[in-house]
Amino acid sequence: MQEENNSCSIDSTSCCSINNDQIKINLQEHWEKSYEKDEVQLGWYQDSAKESLELITKTGISKNKKIIDIGSGSSVLIDDLIDDGYSNIIAADISQKAMDNTKNRLSETDLQKVTWIVDDLTEPTELQNLTDISIWHDRAVFHFLTEEKDRETYFELLNGAVKKGGYVIIATFNLTGANKCSRLPVQRYDEKGIAEFLGAQFNLINFFDFDYTIPNGDVRPYVYTLFRKEG
Ligand SMILES: C[S@@+](CC[C@H](N)C(=O)[O-])C[C@H]1O[C@@H](n2cnc3c(N)ncnc32)[C@H](O)[C@@H]1O
Repeated sequence: MQEENNSCSIDSTSCCSINNDQIKINLQEHWEKSYEKDEVQLGWYQDSAKESLELITKTGISKNKKIIDIGSGSSVLIDDLIDDGYSNIIAADISQKAMDNTKNRLSETDLQKVTWIVDDLTEPTELQNLTDISIWHDRAVFHFLTEEKDRETYFELLNGAVKKGGYVIIATFNLTGANKCSRLPVQRYDEKGIAEFLGAQFNLINFFDFDYTIPNGDVRPYVYTLFRKEG
């Protein structure tokens, strides 16, 4: 029962415990299945990525600079960025279905503004080639990395991709948040925990807690953080 209460998926009826090996093997399958549902039924669905967009706007980067939404799923952040005039966007996710959902919402012209990468952050191939990123954005993805080696891989990717003077936005469940999402365990953070993970090279320039109310009325407390890469 505890597990269901802490799940961020609205449909948690098929809830069961999953061990770490199974998670690894079934990760892509797990997420592909999630995106077979109506998007609005997903516990992380938003009809506007306002909080992310506010932080992105704060950076003041030019609209033709590279922004990656890591683990973008079918988030409307992609649509919102395009509407705001950004034209060099990368959407990356382990789920092809999630990417397809987003693609299907976009016009032919807008599709040209996005590069699509289907890859696993924890065993990256194409993602390893990323460079010159001005903004790395992650909402509700990093907190799924509950193993140290996966966090190390994530950091290497991020650090190799984000240019000096570039920005990192990470939003995770905060310390009062659920300890599971989509039936998977999550690591919760406050801004200090995320700062510690990124290290001194990344300067915390803005953060806030935000209670997101999912479509079924449940509240998901997040922390949003914005860092600048100084080193
Ligand atoms: C809770 S959803 C958040 C999606 C999106 N960022 C949003 O805010 O709507 C987590 C996303 O991370 C993706 N994901 C999970 N593990 C991943 C991994 N190892 N590599 C790449 N993407 C992953 C999932 O497919 C899913 O789209």
